[in-house]
Amino acid sequence: MKQINVGLLGLGNIGTGSYKTLEMNREKIVAVAGADIRIVKILEREKNFDKERDIDVTREQFTADPDEIFNDPEIDIVIELLGGIEPASTFMLNAMNHGKSVVTANKAAVAASWTALNEAAKRNNVMFRFEAAVGGGIPILNALTTVLQANEYEEVLGILNGTTNYILTQMTDYGLDYDEVLKIAQEKGFAEADPTADVEGIDVANKLSILMALAFNKYVAPTDIPTEGITKITKKQLDVAKANGCKVKLIATARKVGDKIEYSVGPQELPVSHPLAGVSNEFNAVFVKGNAVDDLMFYGKGEGPLPTGSAVMGDVLEIAKVIAAQK
Ligand code: HSE
Repeated sequence: MKQINVGLLGLGNIGTGSYKTLEMNREKIVAVAGADIRIVKILEREKNFDKERDIDVTREQFTADPDEIFNDPEIDIVIELLGGIEPASTFMLNAMNHGKSVVTANKAAVAASWTALNEAAKRNNVMFRFEAAVGGGIPILNALTTVLQANEYEEVLGILNGTTNYILTQMTDYGLDYDEVLKIAQEKGFAEADPTADVEGIDVANKLSILMALAFNKYVAPTDIPTEGITKITKKQLDVAKANGCKVKLIATARKVGDKIEYSVGPQELPVSHPLAGVSNEFNAVFVKGNAVDDLMFYGKGEGPLPTGSAVMGDVLEIAKVIAAQK
């Protein structure tokens, strides 16, 4: 049987979830790919090689040197799950320049280095996929660029951050304080130890930048998207919204107005009848209006090791099918 070799950069939560998805569904994945998919090398920069992980991984798979992955002619695909803009962007460019296709869940790097990464993929004739970067397990990028591509998009709205949606839901439904809920979200593991990017809307701006580039063919750097987070929201504001039949949600908006696209990230009062108003806690959703398909909504888990691992491995599988057919 043909073998597709994968190098994995980063074995944190999402790396472990991706690895686990492959282990759990290996038989199905191999059958669909028409090739055996093996994660042969894993970059672990902290040298935590012996750390207890709930996956079957051997010491020999680990390396602390990324060049060992880029320079390995046997590796076909590199999965980047380090997070942050650098060194992740440089590592992805290195991988592509060495002829490897790249899969990532890293919205900060994809959004910040959009042009360089897409040009490098084209120049090196390799594939670059990042479904997991927006909405975790929700297949929104695939949907926008395949089955919905015959539409002109009129509007894309999203609840794209589990931490902030959880905080707003708990404050609205149970009258809890912001700090109290943030602590619970951190204990549950979906708010980062440093939640700044979540609560200030930066994570959502990264995701909106990627969505707009695909839906409207318009790249706007995340730092150029008007962005407001949820840190200034008071319980009183939420109560007033409730009394008016509305819910406050942190919304990413991109809308076609004439021949311009209007875009922003910020808290909005949505009438409870709006499909996005019913999206609670850590769930994410993307609402799309296309000029042919009309209204659509995608709903699911926007974070977490296995939902995100599902999207990462889906991308790996799509690439593996193409490479296997050429081998
Ligand atoms: N911290 C992010 C969230 C993780 O809360 O949604 C997924 O991007």
